[in-house]
Amino acid sequence: MPLTPVLSRYWDDPQSWTLDTYHRHDGYEALRKALKMQPDEVIDTIKDSGLRGRGGAGFPTGVKWGFIPQDDAKPHYLVVNADESEPGTCKDIPLMLATPHALVEGVIIAAYAIRSSHAFIYLRGEVVPVLRRLQAAVSEAHAAGYLGRNILGSGYDLDLVVHAGAGAYICGEETAQLDSLEGRRGQPRLRPPFPAVAGLYACPTVVNNVESIASVPPILRNGIEWFRSMGTEKSPGFTLYSLSGHVTRPGQYEAPLGITLRELLEYAGGMRAGHQLKFWTPGGSSTPMFTDEHLDVPLDYEGVGAAGSMLGTKALQLFDETTCVVRAVLRWTEFYAHESCGKCTPCREGTYWLVQILQRLESGGGSESDLEKLLDISDSILGKSFCALGDGAASPIMSSLKYFRDEYVAHFEQGGCPFDPHQSTLMA
Ligand code: NAI
Ligand code: SF4
Repeated sequence: MPLTPVLSRYWDDPQSWTLDTYHRHDGYEALRKALKMQPDEVIDTIKDSGLRGRGGAGFPTGVKWGFIPQDDAKPHYLVVNADESEPGTCKDIPLMLATPHALVEGVIIAAYAIRSSHAFIYLRGEVVPVLRRLQAAVSEAHAAGYLGRNILGSGYDLDLVVHAGAGAYICGEETAQLDSLEGRRGQPRLRPPFPAVAGLYACPTVVNNVESIASVPPILRNGIEWFRSMGTEKSPGFTLYSLSGHVTRPGQYEAPLGITLRELLEYAGGMRAGHQLKFWTPGGSSTPMFTDEHLDVPLDYEGVGAAGSMLGTKALQLFDETTCVVRAVLRWTEFYAHESCGKCTPCREGTYWLVQILQRLESGGGSESDLEKLLDISDSILGKSFCALGDGAASPIMSSLKYFRDEYVAHFEQGGCPFDPHQSTLMA
């Protein structure tokens, strides 16, 4: 399957982030087209394209836009979730850094479609260069008449605010993000009601990922058939796969949904010289891990789902035979325990105890009964916590025990890690 650079096609251009460069690549042509359409026609176009949310869950973007009630007097809001934080996930930040106008144009079209005149981009505060670049792009767009009052003489008004969050993983969960935007401590809200019905300030709100929104202008420019000519019937289009870890050329690879890791690895030069793939994540550490048995699984929502994991954020983290799986899982679990917001008991208490047991095992202590405890606690978290963070914490533990139970056993039988930690460059 060939690579299909659409979003990433001019990331290497000098000054790729300026309005001039964006104009040279048909920038804001899709907006001109959208403003001549009725908002519902724009929603129907995105619905018919089959674009699915690129933040992880794969919910159909146009369907989500269509949930916004049109017969109420409340304002509508668009919030772009740019709080990318899933371990291994690194696609939205390069996209915003290289081509911020692709996101800004997508925001204006999406906001027009859902009849919103206030949009927000909620960005991780730590990524200051991205914040500056987005703010500069918003200023350029204002000056060019793409934002503000009476956009391009259409009578449509839109204000776009770039908001810097304070760096909590949970603020990437859409309802926690809305609480944070409202000035409260970010903790998930009960769903339903979904944000489309009661979101920001209890008003109808669409929350979309950066890559989803940036995919909108190319679809409007090139049409539904063009988009559907890539990918699979149920998961159409192109997307950004982020390859990291023990791979020869890590980075972003833009390809149709349904490509396999075996094919992507050919573009990325394979595993680092002299080493073999041991395990990998299809969509960040929150998705159950795969092994070399899964190299030919189609990387779309259905293929990965049928093979027992989730496509998630398409963050493919690759680990070779020098990596201790227990140590990798411990590192991820420490992350989830640290980022647990504390609202619900299974996740707050469970992640703490998972870390205690994993630390014991990784340092060569523990026994067989600890493995049962890990599974028991994970089972009490999975599907029983308030939001997806809890599920994400349980997933790597359960899948690593499924594929690498022997390696856990080797730790307590040998009284230490069977791997030389100095060889394990990723985990050192
Ligand atoms: P979800 O499946 O519950 O919801 C997906 C989207 O569809 C949401 O915007 C939700 O409001 C909307 N939705 C679903 N059912 C709806 C209905 N009946 N009516 C109206 N709207 C509806 O998934 P969730 O919990 O929002 O996200 C979980 C995903 O997030 C995971 O798959 C994970 O891969 C991903 N994730 C991404 C991270 C990142 O850094 N990008 C970080 C952590 C997790
Ligand atoms: Fe908070 Fe974890 Fe419960 Fe989510 S699952 S609400 S992060 S304690």
